[in-house]
Amino acid sequence: MVPMPPFRTIQLLRESSPTISVGLLTADLLHLGSEISLLERTGVRVVHVDVMDGCFVPSMTVGPPWIKALKGPLLKDVHLMVQDPIGKVADYVAGGADLITVHVEAGQHIHRVLQALGSMVNANDPARGLIRGIALNPGTHLGALEPLLEEVEMVVLLAVNPGWGGQSFIPSTFARIEKVRRLLQEQKREVLLGVDGGVTRTNIPEIAAAGADIIVTGSAVFDGKAPEENARFMLDTLRRSRNPA
Ligand code: DX5
Ligand code: ZN
Repeated sequence: MVPMPPFRTIQLLRESSPTISVGLLTADLLHLGSEISLLERTGVRVVHVDVMDGCFVPSMTVGPPWIKALKGPLLKDVHLMVQDPIGKVADYVAGGADLITVHVEAGQHIHRVLQALGSMVNANDPARGLIRGIALNPGTHLGALEPLLEEVEMVVLLAVNPGWGGQSFIPSTFARIEKVRRLLQEQKREVLLGVDGGVTRTNIPEIAAAGADIIVTGSAVFDGKAPEENARFMLDTLRRSRNPA
């Protein structure tokens, strides 16, 4: 369970690394409360909300009111697949985002978006702090990260082209994980490394071993059959990877 306040989100996630952030896109949205309680029972600490605006990606999903409606102790990891987020991020922070990730491809002034986020306060509890994430699509050069690292607490590598759940993991992501790991070590930055998309029960051990801290997984948990067992399996797999007996 997520500890009682006050806690620093960044500290909690570092101590939990590697852990999963469970995507709600493929949950039973008509019974979302019980789906989230199910996750809580398994020990999941973070839920991932895919915000899609129909411009940055073809699909449209949810907005700030939906995020605000998510009650309970799980951390809200908000993935903004939103064009030109500069005037929009404040609403998602007000909606209770604990982690908020924007795409480097989403506008000309992403450094300014991250700077603005750096002055915002976690609406759940200011003491938690706010995790700023920068996401890169599979086709985006990793060099785009360099000028942004001082303004983020997390880098997210998309392992699928954004816009849909249930896609296959792009294998070249492994090499990208390793390159970003090396870059973070060279720059001596304690930035969390996230991987998002196409994660399954089969590939999650390899993704953790490659160095991911926050592994986003949606349809491999909410598969319409055994979400609780799926979540427990993934958490146990990652726990064993942290403490190989
Ligand atoms: C893709 C989203 C991902 C995706 C994850 O645009 O950012 O979070 O929904 O879902 P799965 O795990 O099904 O690929
Ligand atoms: Zn996502």
